[in-house]
Amino acid sequence: MKNDHWEEQDGLPVNPTAETPLEELISRRMMLKGMAASGAFGLFGCASGGGTIIPSLASGDGSAPLTFAEIGRTKDDKHHVAPGYTAQILIRQGDPIRAGAPQYRPEQQTGAEQEQQFGTDNDFLAFMSLPKGSNSSTRGLLGSNHENHRANICFPGNPSSLSKQQVEVQMAAQGFSIIEIAKEGNRWRHVLDSKYNRRISTNTEMRISGPAAGHARMQTPSDPSGRKVYGTFNNCAGGTTPWGTMLTAEENVQNYFAGDASKGPEAAARRRYGITGKGRYADWGRYFDRFNLDKEANEHNRFGWIVEIDPYDPSSRPVKRTALGRCAHECATHAVSHDGRVAIYSGDDARMEHVYKFVTNGKMGSGRDLLDDGVLYAARFEQNGKMRWLPLVHGQGPLTAANGFNSQADVVIELRRAATLSGATPMDRPEDVEAHPLTGRVYVVLTYNEQRKPDQVNAANPRGPNKHGHIVEIVPPLVDGKPDHTAIECDWGFFLLGGDPKVAEHGARYANPVSDNGWLAAPDNVAFDPKGRIWITTDGQDDWAGFNDSCYGANVSGPNRGVPRAFFNGPTGCEMCGPCFTPDGKTLFLAVQHPGDDKGSTFDKPSTRWPDFQPGMPPRGSVVAITKDDGGEIGG
Ligand code: FEO
Ligand code: CA
Ligand code: CA
Ligand code: CA
Repeated sequence: MKNDHWEEQDGLPVNPTAETPLEELISRRMMLKGMAASGAFGLFGCASGGGTIIPSLASGDGSAPLTFAEIGRTKDDKHHVAPGYTAQILIRQGDPIRAGAPQYRPEQQTGAEQEQQFGTDNDFLAFMSLPKGSNSSTRGLLGSNHENHRANICFPGNPSSLSKQQVEVQMAAQGFSIIEIAKEGNRWRHVLDSKYNRRISTNTEMRISGPAAGHARMQTPSDPSGRKVYGTFNNCAGGTTPWGTMLTAEENVQNYFAGDASKGPEAAARRRYGITGKGRYADWGRYFDRFNLDKEANEHNRFGWIVEIDPYDPSSRPVKRTALGRCAHECATHAVSHDGRVAIYSGDDARMEHVYKFVTNGKMGSGRDLLDDGVLYAARFEQNGKMRWLPLVHGQGPLTAANGFNSQADVVIELRRAATLSGATPMDRPEDVEAHPLTGRVYVVLTYNEQRKPDQVNAANPRGPNKHGHIVEIVPPLVDGKPDHTAIECDWGFFLLGGDPKVAEHGARYANPVSDNGWLAAPDNVAFDPKGRIWITTDGQDDWAGFNDSCYGANVSGPNRGVPRAFFNGPTGCEMCGPCFTPDGKTLFLAVQHPGDDKGSTFDKPSTRWPDFQPGMPPRGSVVAITKDDGGEIGG
């Protein structure tokens, strides 16, 4: 099967109105004139024009120096971590999820075995302390997404057509894992006999809630209620809630449906979601009717959502929260606002798609179904340093029957079209969108968009093409000193524009000078350590910079604001994902996803056999737990 470099093939532009509106072109010309006059890239520092400045904070504001020795670029088959730190392989693709589960047999694996084993392509990671409500950094639950299953790497013989047994493995390999882990000394172990150990896959029964639940477009022959669905797949990044659940984001779900996508009432909506009937998992539709568009025309509407999982209750049913909309969700990260309402931020990872936030109507503590009731917004960035959150509410603005939106169900099912019609800004593949826990500034990671043309640039996406990605910083207003994540209008600026600042054609910009080993490309996931510093993982440096993907630490304030420092490099062919800290900041978990997925690499002849380096064992996506050898905090 020819499926190298999926991330480049995913998220192809489908937005028919990605052209820059005329008023933006005019104001951009004015901005460029102004920039030339001032000689400065105006939006750096804090957002220009808005006037809101986060006050200096005594601790946790992300200015504490990073003390590790930066590592150099690598392009080999191994991982590398800064001196004085150790990266332990915690769990690998195929490892038994609990005591008694079958061992990994890569050449004969069955779906039933994979259902009891850690899945493939680990991406998002979340750590939650045990017992619940404690702040333990030595015992907890680790949640992990499983984004894809790569037949060329995982199955012998590089099959171009999969058997039913192989499809069943793929269905079981994606989704989510929850494992209990414990730290003894400076090492972590998977607690194999824990009652919490659990796999969630394409076969797990889930509840559909929110405005799309029960709607005719969500009904299928096997579920006439439109309220029950089996499974979740292509789980990219995610988030957590303040009430102790984990959120997993269904991203490139367009790849799973076979058949004729051009027929029937869903044809136009399918086009906007890139559903062609020729996805890389088209084999699924040969064995399972629900993935065959000719047999079950609505199944695709039941994927592309945010799924809420209670890791503390192993018998709980996951819930698809449709109020948060349907798209190629990268993530779903939370921020508690000044008044106790909760914002969930998300990006739609495709070229020219949008950034979203959902704000609950209820306040923290007002029930388990907070995510079913609230307002969904899309982001519009203006040239003047202001941005607006556009409400996507049925009956408001263009979201009416005249445009085919007959209810809020239509709005959330066709979120992309609703946001574009409302005036949202077409972005350069939004990946993580995450609020700083102390300052409330929201970091919007745009991984890259090599297909943006020079005449398609806009205020927040100023490079066409954009081969190196960038990070936008949204600054919400403060109310009584606390960030207002419910605000409609915020300030914004750039945190960094990726690329090598020494190469003029990259157009890279950093707030302060970066080292030859510190500039980055293709940022994807971010996390904040307890000192408020940002950690950034990349997905695509091999393509856009010529070296393996990495994890960088950076200050968000102080004299080294916005200066990435290379901390960890993954092995060849991988992307780096899932940065996640224990509450004490002494462990950093990272997900090394699809090692060995270089062009031409296969199960039989992989470009690396990381992490085992054993003949016959393919490269395996794995979680690494990084600790400092002296027991101190990561980054110092
Ligand atoms: Fe799966 Fe958006 O990276
Ligand atoms: Ca991925
Ligand atoms: Ca990602
Ligand atoms: Ca990515």
